[in-house]
Amino acid sequence: MQDSLIRTGTTGDGLPAHFRRVVSFHPRGGRLNAVQRRAFQAHADRWYLEAGELTGPLDGTTLFGRAAPLIMEIGSGMGESTAAMAAARPEADLLAIEVYKPGVAQTLHHLNRTGVQNVRVVRGDGVQVLTDLIAPGSLAELWLFFPDPWPKTRHFKRRLVTPEFAELVASRLRRGGVFRLATDWAPYAERMLAVCAATKGLRNLHAGWAPRPAFRPRTRFERRGLAEGHEIFDLEFSRR
Ligand SMILES: C[S@@+](CC[C@H](N)C(=O)[O-])C[C@H]1O[C@@H](n2cnc3c(N)ncnc32)[C@H](O)[C@@H]1O
Repeated sequence: MQDSLIRTGTTGDGLPAHFRRVVSFHPRGGRLNAVQRRAFQAHADRWYLEAGELTGPLDGTTLFGRAAPLIMEIGSGMGESTAAMAAARPEADLLAIEVYKPGVAQTLHHLNRTGVQNVRVVRGDGVQVLTDLIAPGSLAELWLFFPDPWPKTRHFKRRLVTPEFAELVASRLRRGGVFRLATDWAPYAERMLAVCAATKGLRNLHAGWAPRPAFRPRTRFERRGLAEGHEIFDLEFSRR
C-alpha cells in the first residue's frame, strides 16, 4: 500500500510515527436517528460485527453457519441495495463493510425488513478488513459499487482504486473470483479500467465496460448520479 502512505510527522493509528495511511473516507459524525438507534439496539446481535473485535482469517462457515461462496462488499452505505442484493444471491454469503456508523445502523434496519440471513455487516475500513481479516485466495467476489469519487485533484490520493488496492483485491479473490465495480464518475471509471487492466492477477471479462449485474438494483448513489445526468459504468474482472 505504498502510495497510500504519506509523511505527516504525526503519530497514531498504530503505524510508524512518521506515517499515516490516507483513508478513503471523511471522519464523519456518528449520530444515529431514532430509526437507526432502534435498529442497532434490536438487530446488532443478529447481523453486526465490530472490525476491532475480529481476528483473522475470518471463517465464512463459522460466521454464517454454512459453507457457501463468500462475497465482500466495501462501502455498503445505507444498506438498502445490500439487503436487496443479498436476497437476490441466496446461494452466497455477503460480508458488508461500511465505515459510517449511521449507515451500518440503517443497513440493520433494511436487513430486518427483508429478513435475509446471508449478510453480516462489519463497521470498519474495508482496506484494513481485506488486509488483516481475509485469507488470500478466499473470496468468491468483491463488490465496490459507487465508491466516493473524490473528484478534486488534491483528493485523488483518497480514491480506493489504486494499483496497490487492485493487487490486494486480486490476492484475496480465489481463482476465477470476480471483482465487480461500478461508478457514475466517468474519469474515475476510466481510471478503474486502466488500473484493473494493468493488474497482473486480473482479467477483464468484457472488451471494455461490463453489463449491469442482474442482481444489483439501482443503488442510492446510482440514483443520485442518474438524476444528475451521469452515465453508469460497470466493470467485471476475474482473478486469473
Ligand atoms: C458513495 S457511497 C456508496 C454507497 C453504496 N454502495 C451505494 O451505491 O449507494 C460510498 C460509501 O463508502 C463508504 N466508505 C468509504 N471508504 C470506505 C472504506 N475504506 N471502508 C468501508 N467503507 C468505506 C462511505 O462511508 C460511503 O458510505
